[in-house]
Formats: sequence, C-alpha cells, structure tokens
Amino acid sequence: MKVFVTRKIPGNHLEKLEKLGYEVSVSEFDRALTGEELVERVKGVDAIISMVTERVDGDLMDVAGPQLKIIANYAVGFDNIDVGSATDRGIVVTNTPSDEVNESVAEHTWSLILALANRIVEADEFVRQGHFRGWEPDLFLGTNLIGKTLGIIGLGRIGTMVARRAQGWKMQIVYFKRTRDLTCEKEMGILYCPLEDVLKKSDFLTLHVPLTEETRYMINKETLAKMKKGAYLINTARGKIVNEKHLIDALKSEQLAGAALDVFDDENDVSSELLKMSNTITTPHIGSATHQAREKMGEMAIEAIIEALSGKKPKTIVNEEVWERRRN
Ligand code: GLV
Repeated sequence: MKVFVTRKIPGNHLEKLEKLGYEVSVSEFDRALTGEELVERVKGVDAIISMVTERVDGDLMDVAGPQLKIIANYAVGFDNIDVGSATDRGIVVTNTPSDEVNESVAEHTWSLILALANRIVEADEFVRQGHFRGWEPDLFLGTNLIGKTLGIIGLGRIGTMVARRAQGWKMQIVYFKRTRDLTCEKEMGILYCPLEDVLKKSDFLTLHVPLTEETRYMINKETLAKMKKGAYLINTARGKIVNEKHLIDALKSEQLAGAALDVFDDENDVSSELLKMSNTITTPHIGSATHQAREKMGEMAIEAIIEALSGKKPKTIVNEEVWERRRN
C-alpha cells in the first residue's frame, strides 16, 4: 500500500507506517506543492496525508486513481478538501482534532487577546527601534480585561476552551452557536445570544467556526457595522470568514480598535495594507503550532491511515456516511 505525504511533518510518525510495510513517500519540497506537482505525486497511492495549503478536489482524487481510499488531512479544519466529492467516490476523509490542538489554538487566541489589550507588539517595536527613553504617563495605554465582554462565535471544542480561560480574567462571555449549549452555559455561566447581540455586546470578538458556505465572509461590512465601536476582532479560525477589505475599512474608520489575525484571506500574499496598520497583530497561521499539538496531529493522521487501510473505521472520520460504501 502506498502513502503520499504532501509535506514533511514534525516527529517520526511515518516510521510506524514503514514498519507496517507501507510504502511511504514524502514531498521532496519544503513548501506547499503546486496543483501540477500534486497531480504527479498522487497517482497510484492508497492514502494521502494532506495539509491545509493544498486543495484536494474530485479531479485530484480521480487523477490519484480508483485505489485511493483515504485522505487524512493534517489539520482540524478540512475546508481544503472537497468532502462531497470524496464521499461520492467512496473515499474516507479524516482530520486531527485533539485536546492538544484545541488547547494550542485556544492559548494562541488568548495570546492575541492579551497582546491586543496591552499593545504588546507595538510597544515591543517601539523599544526595539530605540524610541524608549524611560517611563511616561501615557505611553501605550491599553485596556483592562476585567468586566469586559468576550464574544465567541462558534462554541465547539476550541470556542469552549477559549471561554473556560476567560473566566480567569473575570470577563463576561456571550456566545453564538447554531445550537445552544446549555451544559456550557450552566457550567461556565456564559450567555447565549443571537449573532446580532453578540456583535453588539462584545468588547473582544473571537471566531471559532469552521469555514463553510454559511460562514464564508460572515464578518463583513454589515456585521462589522453592528459591532460595538472600539471593539477588537480576533481570528484564529479561517481567513475567509472575514472580508479583509471590509475589516481594513472598519479599522481605518476606528469602528474597530484593533484586530489580531492568525489566518488570512490569501495566505500566499497577505494584504500589505493590513500589515501597514499599527492596530493589527498578525501571526503566520500558527494557532496549532505547539510541539504537543503537531506531534498529536502526526500521530492521529497515521492512526487514521492504519485504521482505514486495515478495514477499521477511523475515529476521526469526517464523512461517516461513506463508511458502508467505502472503496476496498
Ligand atoms: C489548522 O488550521 C487546523 O485546522 O488544524
């Protein structure tokens, strides 16, 4: 059985596959593969370990061939994979959700909230550029978090971990989710609100929804205008949930006080306008980039492949409905 890994991943998980007799090949490039490069390399493989940087659609699945049985995405989000096309073809798709990854993203979200509130990045740059000449009464005034409202859009595994951590800062929490989570409400004393109210009430608004047709550009001119003036936006989910052009306008007009983004509309070419602004913080899609999270992701992707190729339903399957009519 052949396994293709689209990029070298941390840890030595692939050895496990080799020990079991799988023929493993890893992309020779230390960068995302182009569409054409991907086409060349997936031909004849039984399993693919893909990254969020690759688009895996029906055409690519067909090029791979009828023996392709599983696409194990090395990520929690799987919007880069056309899951419908995989299901139509009897191909299993898996992802890598785990406490380690969720904690990593929740902690990164908190790093960004704190960095925004305390203007850490601007202040660091000020010192490094040699402008600091001693204490000043009004140097980089930030904002305390106590008593402020944290709005969470999407209260899944990561959103819940973000909410739990907000209690340490004694913030009020409002959230929006398609289905209310009464257990979390009771346990953490958080308040469910319709989306519009979450937008209106939040001093800090953080996004934890997957990218779907429903959430694509859900933060746009209209929703930004409904936000509290002077609020902050944090996005560690997916770039295309936010209309960046509209966000830039909201930052320029001071409708928003700041934004911290770990994900972008075009991650190959981040908007230069966004990068010029002093009230934005940007990190290069590293929400899940802790050693613990990446180790776990490797372990889970390999596990899913071993399970699927030996006839066991992977624990992390995202298209359950394919299992009964999967390719053998
Ligand atoms: C990374 O973005 C992931 O979805 O794990």
